Amino acid sequence: MRITVLGCGYVGLVTGTCLAEIGHSVVCTDNDESKIDILNQGALPIYEPHLQELVARNVAAGRLSFTADLAEAIRVGDVIFICIGTPPLQNGEADISGIDGAARLIAREARSSKLVVEKSTVPVQSGRKLTRALDIYGRNSRWSFSVASNPEFLREGSAVLDFLHPDRIVVGVSDRSSELLLREIYRPIQQQELRNCPVHEGDCPRKNPPELLVTSINSAELIKHACNSFLALKISYANLIADICESMGADVEEVTRGMGLDPRIGPAFLNAGLGFGGFCLPKDIQAFIRLGEKVGVDVSLLKDAELINKRRIDSFLAKATQALWTLKDKHIGVLGLAFKPSTDDIRFAPAMELITRLLDEHAHVSVYDPQAMEKTRTLFPSIHYCADPYELADGAEALMIATEWPEFKSLDWARLSRLMQRPLVFDGRNLLDRNEMERLGFEYYGVGVLSTAEAEARCAAVPLSPGSR
Ligand code: UGA
Repeated sequence: MRITVLGCGYVGLVTGTCLAEIGHSVVCTDNDESKIDILNQGALPIYEPHLQELVARNVAAGRLSFTADLAEAIRVGDVIFICIGTPPLQNGEADISGIDGAARLIAREARSSKLVVEKSTVPVQSGRKLTRALDIYGRNSRWSFSVASNPEFLREGSAVLDFLHPDRIVVGVSDRSSELLLREIYRPIQQQELRNCPVHEGDCPRKNPPELLVTSINSAELIKHACNSFLALKISYANLIADICESMGADVEEVTRGMGLDPRIGPAFLNAGLGFGGFCLPKDIQAFIRLGEKVGVDVSLLKDAELINKRRIDSFLAKATQALWTLKDKHIGVLGLAFKPSTDDIRFAPAMELITRLLDEHAHVSVYDPQAMEKTRTLFPSIHYCADPYELADGAEALMIATEWPEFKSLDWARLSRLMQRPLVFDGRNLLDRNEMERLGFEYYGVGVLSTAEAEARCAAVPLSPGSR
């Protein structure tokens, strides 16, 4: 199948490359020529595990190419995947102007009939508007356009795995031929006919084939927003439990483990910490809230989840202020900048808000992240960027873990302790083992459990009742 991918961001690049990997002939395009230049030089404008190798392999095989010529790219594909960003507008609604622009371009430049597939996350009923735009702008054309919705469920950091081994494939269509085309496109994935899977080096674990769910276009669009909002709700719920645990002397890790063993709840997305960031959950829950408000549905449940998330940095910094007395002039090392591990993406990353707030308090901020330093430098040019965690610890009065990179776990924490002015760690992701950290002499604060220092302070504050001795 000849496929065009519009948009070379995270979703477009992974989608285009993986579609080439399963045998299709794919051309990817973007209106940002610099991205195409980078790709044509054999590099990637983003970091995503396995993607580099996969791009190189498919370009070499002649199945994947990149062009800045939008018109030419549109003419090539029988199927066009729209993978254009839908960033939040000032009021939180999704900005769908990129999709509208794509519709006009497709209608103008097409020289054959096309199936136009929305992969971008869009508000429900966008498919209807896309169909209308294609009809209006293509009214003088001889070609016909069908529209489908095929939401992506790609997690950054494991997007290639998620594409090649999905839990489900959702296709929202309004006619049988679109369904058949999409079934044909995804057949190698549905039947797990991967020749040389880059994630498992050809030896993929046995897994039930993913269900290909066919729905209406509206339902497919809604599935995506409903999923991301539910994941956000789940995280905020875990954080609410964490706050109760801290107040009542329980441990959120134990509580969520106990919850997750119930198959109706499940263990995933119950990690308490600094909350959810990235370019999906925060913007999608906001867009879903605006959508609900527009149609008069009570969305207070979603608003509360968003509010809980916004307050995570407040409670984290309150704890730090308590332990450090004041943040002013303190040397603080932030360990982790990306919104989650295995990505260089810092969009809506909790670490960005954390750094802003530390600077507002006049702390001296140093940072380290295995992948996200360059991107952060553009936002905070004047903070100190360290070559490794040991440089970060050197002279620091506290380290704050904002991203749970697995390699932070295996650092030589005894050495870090020796390098620090004060062995104090605020673990915003509950990455480290409290007992081990305390054994190494750290004053250690996690999330959703009182530190030993906090527990002792609380005991001292409770007057003993007469006769209790
Ligand atoms: C999310 C969804 O998980 C994907 O299914 C979806 O396709 C994607 O958005 C999208 O819409 O494109 P992603 O943004 O890559 O994927 O990241 P997640 O793995 O969902 O993590 C989001 C945030 O939640 C991160 O900041 C992470 O640290 C935080 N999180 C996650 C927690 O705080 N606790 C958890 O238990 C899990």
